[in-house]
Amino acid sequence: MVGFNALLVSLVSLAVTGTYADTVARSNNRIPWLDYEGIVRAGQDALNYTVYRRELAELSGASGPLAIRDELEHRSNGVPRCKKIRKRKEWRQLAYGEKRDYIKAIKCLQTKGDYNISPVTDNLYDAFTQVHQTNWTDFHGNSWFLPWHRWFVWIHAEAMEHECGYDGPVPYWDYTLDYRNPSGSPIFSTDPVIGFGTHGNIPQTEIGLGGYKVDNGAFANLRVSLPIPHYLTRNFSAWKTADPEGKYGYQLGESYSPAAVAQTLAAPTFWEFEGAMDGFNVSIPIDPTAPITLADIPIAGVHNAPHAFNMGDWNGPTWLFGTQWFPAGVVAPNDPMFWPHHGNVDRVWWKWQQKPGKQWEFNGKKGLDRINDALPSDILPFYNLGPDPVVALTLKTENWPMCYTYSG
Ligand SMILES: *[C@@H]1O[C@H](CO)[C@@H](O)[C@H](O)[C@H]1NC(C)=O
Ligand SMILES: *[C@@H]1O[C@H](CO)[C@@H](O)[C@H](O)[C@H]1NC(C)=O
Ligand SMILES: *[C@@H]1O[C@H](CO)[C@@H](O)[C@H](O)[C@H]1NC(C)=O
Ligand SMILES: *[C@@H]1O[C@H](CO)[C@@H](O)[C@H](O)[C@H]1NC(C)=O
Repeated sequence: MVGFNALLVSLVSLAVTGTYADTVARSNNRIPWLDYEGIVRAGQDALNYTVYRRELAELSGASGPLAIRDELEHRSNGVPRCKKIRKRKEWRQLAYGEKRDYIKAIKCLQTKGDYNISPVTDNLYDAFTQVHQTNWTDFHGNSWFLPWHRWFVWIHAEAMEHECGYDGPVPYWDYTLDYRNPSGSPIFSTDPVIGFGTHGNIPQTEIGLGGYKVDNGAFANLRVSLPIPHYLTRNFSAWKTADPEGKYGYQLGESYSPAAVAQTLAAPTFWEFEGAMDGFNVSIPIDPTAPITLADIPIAGVHNAPHAFNMGDWNGPTWLFGTQWFPAGVVAPNDPMFWPHHGNVDRVWWKWQQKPGKQWEFNGKKGLDRINDALPSDILPFYNLGPDPVVALTLKTENWPMCYTYSG
């Protein structure tokens, strides 16, 4: 009991004083459809419960822990509750009208102001890209990766709803259905209303390592702004020359095959799951100063591979390798495919969390150097895109404020 209380006080004081309150205050309630105060309270509540659960696992005997639970349930009064739990769906499960409205709402974000979130652009579409590239090594390739992106995709879905009226299912792209021919997936339909389009045919030299202007589908001729204005660019041929024999599957498909996902889901700890999922630990770490070679292909992982099979906006930093924008530009959210892709990354984590004892597990390392321990009380930086949440608040999608789930 003494251990529990000491731990509780030290973790909670992190959340209620100093850093957490300050970061929330800095972000200044600027987005009207986010309940900043509620998110702070829910974050404290989530932290309280995370500590409680950890202690419960360590204690034997029921009377102490039950008393603690009652006390915590009493305290959590005042934290908003979900009005309903929304179910996310695979892209193919959306009705025609839902696909149409979802795509319309993504484009609509280019017409909405950004509440001064981004210092360099002025619409909400670009603000997401800007936030994603700010100090990006803090939340890629380490334990913050999954919680940070979960919250990011959720805020994007909220923006789609509150700014642009989309309240249909939030889609994910389950690429295990397409791993033998990913770019042949129906999500890349050239339909001008409901297709994300292919990689197009018109070679580009505006930025990065070339590629093709997306000239078909609903995002044909889309202009995006970061790091400088350019046409949305893709190149689905990226791995054809690097892996001519298809050792890693067509377009790295073996990295996100049903077998690869099953193997990832078998990871015994959050940290090992993160390493396999994100991709940094599938083999030797990539040298960020060197161009990608065949030897680097096995770094793929479920998350990295779908970024890497395309050489263009949604690739991320490798596309900008050797240009003046490397390594700061991590502009993957320029491509609308970012959202269904990261929806699926989040879904695979959700699946892992459904295993016994995994819902609240969070551990591993943070930072580019992966030296310091990552904790449920860590505060995720969102650079004015809403209040900065504590990790503990992101661990259960069915809890307020996220209020969503997956069917499997
Ligand atoms: C969390 O615990 C702290 C410390 O006991 C308490 O002051 C606070 O009200 C609790 N917060 C919530 C939302 O339960
Ligand atoms: C990025 O991180 C550095 C080092 O922690 C910090 O000084 C800087 O303020 C951060 N950038 C922004 C935009 O907050
Ligand atoms: C697309 O990628 C392939 C394979 O890396 C490369 O040979 C080709 O030049 C790229 N096309 C453009 C237009 O950049
Ligand atoms: C990464 O791989 C090494 C070597 O296989 C292993 O010792 C380490 O635990 C792994 N780390 C993660 C996060 O999975």
